[in-house]
Amino acid sequence: MPIQKTIHGWLIETQHSAYALGLNPAGLLAHCYWGPRLPFTADYPPPPAPAEWSSFDMPAHLTPEEYPAHAALRFGEPCLSLVFADGTRDLVLGFVEASIDGEELHITLRDEALQLALTLHYRAHPAYDLIERWVTISNQGHQPLRIERVWSALWHLPPADYPYRLSHLTGRWADELRLRRERMPQGTTVLESRRLTSSHHHHPAFALDRGDASEEHGEVWFGALAWSGNWKLAAELTDFGATRLGIGLNDWDFAWQLGPGEQFVTPACYGGYSQHGFGPMSRALHDLVRDQLLPHHNAPRKVLYNSWEATAFAVDLASQSRLAELAAAMGVELFVMDDGWFHGRDSDRAGLGDWWPDQRKFPQGLNPLIERVNGLGMDFGLWVEPEMVSPDSELYRAHPDWAIHFPSRPPSTARNQLILNLARPDVQEHLIGLLDTLLAAHNIAFVKWDMNRNVSEPGWPSAPGEPREIWVRYVQGLYHVWGELRRRHPSVIWQSCSGGGGRADLGILRLADQIWVSDNTEPTARLHIQEGFSQFYPASTMEAWVTDMGAAHLSLEYRFHVSMCGALGVGGNLLHWSADQRAEAAALIARYKAVRHIVQAGDLFRLRSPAASPISALQYVSKDRSASLLFVFRTHMPPQLALPPILLRGLDPQARYTVEGIAEPRSGAAWMQIGLNLDRAELQDFQSTMRLIQQVNHG
Ligand code: DGJ
Repeated sequence: MPIQKTIHGWLIETQHSAYALGLNPAGLLAHCYWGPRLPFTADYPPPPAPAEWSSFDMPAHLTPEEYPAHAALRFGEPCLSLVFADGTRDLVLGFVEASIDGEELHITLRDEALQLALTLHYRAHPAYDLIERWVTISNQGHQPLRIERVWSALWHLPPADYPYRLSHLTGRWADELRLRRERMPQGTTVLESRRLTSSHHHHPAFALDRGDASEEHGEVWFGALAWSGNWKLAAELTDFGATRLGIGLNDWDFAWQLGPGEQFVTPACYGGYSQHGFGPMSRALHDLVRDQLLPHHNAPRKVLYNSWEATAFAVDLASQSRLAELAAAMGVELFVMDDGWFHGRDSDRAGLGDWWPDQRKFPQGLNPLIERVNGLGMDFGLWVEPEMVSPDSELYRAHPDWAIHFPSRPPSTARNQLILNLARPDVQEHLIGLLDTLLAAHNIAFVKWDMNRNVSEPGWPSAPGEPREIWVRYVQGLYHVWGELRRRHPSVIWQSCSGGGGRADLGILRLADQIWVSDNTEPTARLHIQEGFSQFYPASTMEAWVTDMGAAHLSLEYRFHVSMCGALGVGGNLLHWSADQRAEAAALIARYKAVRHIVQAGDLFRLRSPAASPISALQYVSKDRSASLLFVFRTHMPPQLALPPILLRGLDPQARYTVEGIAEPRSGAAWMQIGLNLDRAELQDFQSTMRLIQQVNHG
């Protein structure tokens, strides 16, 4: 049983980790333990007794509460902040009940006077060493109340002699998902998005370590929020040396009116503990995403071609057919027509919202192109940007009020577009109807769902209640529209794109099987972006195209190798590729198809970081450890006497393996201990190598 009641409270155990909480003598629900699983139930500590330092720091402030509210003598970051009808901004939460239901634990606390119930939910994912947490607020009174903050979880870290190191991803458009590791300062570090998406800028996921963790060593505590809108993370190093991290919906410009009898349920946050570094953290999340979240789980990702960089808005039957023929001859399996195909869309100045084929470009509609693509043996995919509207569109002319805006001022455009208010049920139903018609009338196997601006003037003039609910209701509306389309068209594969990686998170991965991680496809930049993405998300979700970016200084092989670390795609202008280049690409695509199951469904080992060395390396290992794939990339490096050995990981130490290009098999132990010595001449500046590693006599 992963969850049990103990003499001290409740204990959640996964395969290698444990999490304990209980009521302390003052009746507060307190955190007791998060770390490696211990041999005996009695090993886990009891809830800490109330401590008091002075009249300035009373027990409520010093207790590591599981979910502290804005209440009484507490001065840290609260998880919950409520305003009641009589103006009360305080809570006295007492324990009501707890129930264990298989792998779930539910603990309910209640403010009797204010008739407010709070239920903390925990779900164990024992095989993944993860715990999922979320919260329900129930207004059991007779007056409405206002929620001003409601987070999904507060994570308490064990005591440490030095400040913890916070690992997180940061960046901007075309440079997103950069991994940062920084010691926590005294006080509170806030990371957040106020942009309506999870954002290119900061990322709703974290890892904490004591400064000594590496890929395969050291303790790491980590978590990720399953939410695709505004979020906030507050990592606190308190005056008393405690480390805690709260995460959930952003309270900035947020308010939610909760009527009598209503409930509010937060998004989930997944958290985990790794005793052996960042590698197991990533592999646990990769497995969870593939097995539990992705709609199509481990189905092989097809090699796609995307027309954007070749033809931009100038798409028509002739241009796309020509590209499709060239792509099919290279072994591409899925042809995706990007932006420009719909009514009035010749540039980014018009057309968004009018999701039917442009008469001038496709006089017979899309089916002739789709039939041509299918006839070439490929699936057909299409780009849409459903949340957006161009002021120059039929939709906007008919429904200007559907755009997010304040009536007192003109809304700001970005890329000449406005955002439809997906908080509105009529907008949701309109989009479901239009896109359903599009999917029903065409053989579309793949949809790229784009979103190319952030919000401004976040007004909702016709809001039935509190207009600041827009931040959450928009994302709920997005999930509803997308989820309903998924339900009606279950075989379609969806890709989430927001001008690259502006909406990459565990929430969107319940809807989209793939993510377009960046508009920057220059391969040496991509090494860093992909390293960041891989911290939390598996390679199968990382769509990676070979384009013409980097062609001036990098070989086609190098560019392919970088993209082969994810779900391979091609996005270059094939009309400009020579016959020799297309033949080389065809050989690399064939190679990828033969090994993609290792990349997409295997375990990732980051052997050498591109941030730490001009020679970076990644290894994927099949779950049964019979086969593995090694990628090594060199950027510029001063001349060396010898290249550093590449120490492999994840192999069966006792089994013997061959490494492609090396005659003698060796034991897994030897490859991991001594490594692979690449000759200097084999890996010069801006060269790469990909090696298949196979267990001898396997099967
Ligand atoms: C931004 C995306 O990231 C690109 O790949 C492309 O789809 C354009 N939008 C099209 O407008």
